[in-house]
Amino acid sequence: MLYDMRHDRARNHVGQCLDLASNDYLNMSQHPDVIAAASRVLHKWGTGARSSRVVTGTHPAHHEFESTLSRYLQAPAALVFSSGYTANMAAITAFSSSTTQLICDRRNHASLIDACRLTGARKTIIDVADRQELRNTLARFSDEQTLVVCDAVDSVTGETLDVAAIYAETHRAGALLIVDNAHGLGVWGDDGAGPFPELFSSKEYRAAQDLIVTCTLSKALGAQGGAIVCSPQQRQHLVDTARTFIFDTALAPVMAAAAATSLKIICETPHILKELHGTVDILAEKLRMRGVDIRANHSDAAAPIIYVPLGNPEKAVAQLKPLKKKEY
Ligand SMILES: Cc1ncc(COP(=O)(O)O)c(C=O)c1O
Repeated sequence: MLYDMRHDRARNHVGQCLDLASNDYLNMSQHPDVIAAASRVLHKWGTGARSSRVVTGTHPAHHEFESTLSRYLQAPAALVFSSGYTANMAAITAFSSSTTQLICDRRNHASLIDACRLTGARKTIIDVADRQELRNTLARFSDEQTLVVCDAVDSVTGETLDVAAIYAETHRAGALLIVDNAHGLGVWGDDGAGPFPELFSSKEYRAAQDLIVTCTLSKALGAQGGAIVCSPQQRQHLVDTARTFIFDTALAPVMAAAAATSLKIICETPHILKELHGTVDILAEKLRMRGVDIRANHSDAAAPIIYVPLGNPEKAVAQLKPLKKKEY
């Protein structure tokens, strides 16, 4: 039997109600400069990329976004994909084989889980944030090619991992670390870049190139698409082997232009992040004052996610009822 548990009703509410459920944390999808940049590329190049990037689908807007992103994170290179999902599939499958030992965080996003399954490699699921557990697991597989996979920011709870501490462990053990920064890119910390510029500039990284970061353009950048931030050699390996890069139509150049403009705005107007984090603090405080049970993970200015656990599905659906007729 099929149950109708979810819906996909179109909403025509832009400008009419406050949307606290989207991932467009900075409202970049509505920013006039982002729309203007996207319009220019739309009129020059049209609506779609028209083929895979390795055929004729690569546009100047892709390279422009890649260099803007790698500069922002002080990383050596980046490669753009049609979505964050396909970027995660590519990163994990291209840098592992059936003999790799995968160490996966228990909170991982569906795209990371699917990618790990696709490799056919052995998986060990742990709490990557537990340093002792991570260290012990890495020690167990010290003779094998090991890949540690985690989400920097949990999309539901806003919980943020100490990526620098995790990298210290994986680097010491000679493992490769792949971090999905979907919810952190553009909003984590004072400049939105999180711990990554420091890690990519470190002598440890420069010696080993053992960190890969994946991102999506569809959240704080208000566009669509995904990216992998890595070394130039790893980028070339992805171009040569990643199936979701080779056998997928390239990201529409209009989206690459929108995302590059969002990133430039974030760099040039850092006060918008201060305002965002301030607004999150005010909202959390007001909810708390009204007796809402918040598990606050937002205080370290990572992602603007306020987690309100309701306990069970019945309670969650009951919360929806007063809104149902008016808003949907
Ligand atoms: C943690 C995480 N990783 C990856 C993705 C996939 O990104 P995209 O929507 O660009 O495919 C999402 C959400 O959509 C996400 O929340």
